[in-house]
Amino acid sequence: MAQNLGTQQLIAWLDDAYAMESGLVGILENHASHFTREQMTAATRRIQQHIIETRQHAQRLQQCLQLLNTTPSTIKSTLSSIVGSIEGAGTMMFRDQLVKNALADYASEQFEIACYTALISIATELGQHEIVNLCKQNLEEDQAMATWLLQQLPGVVRHDAGYAAPTRSA
Ligand SMILES: [Fe+2]
Ligand SMILES: [Fe+2]
Repeated sequence: MAQNLGTQQLIAWLDDAYAMESGLVGILENHASHFTREQMTAATRRIQQHIIETRQHAQRLQQCLQLLNTTPSTIKSTLSSIVGSIEGAGTMMFRDQLVKNALADYASEQFEIACYTALISIATELGQHEIVNLCKQNLEEDQAMATWLLQQLPGVVRHDAGYAAPTRSA
């Protein structure tokens, strides 16, 4: 009985995380498009790499759900709503947009790290070792991205200091 409830909880969290990762792909694509200056191409490449990783994270979560004989649902995810509010509407372009994006992306990565830590913990307790391994792979890539984002922040701030006048993209 307790095992069943635990498995149901694990499925709900995996499902939620799937929606979160899927939503992050669009947000990262939007942020990558803001880097137009030549000196920022390395950053764009790193974000592009994480877009590919994020798609893979969603696929791994789908794999986890398949291991539990289920598929991702289309129900609105609580976790993706939280990430959505961290990241903001995203249609406005501010003078310090790159800094705002970097702060929001860093917060989102930390949120992902917390989600995978929780998922790994419950999957370990339930003896779902394959799910633990798949979630660990996602966790490591999100940790690497969070570390990279934090290292970039001073450079992004310097870059934004010479930014052009504020514009609106909408
Ligand atoms: Fe992720
Ligand atoms: Fe991530």
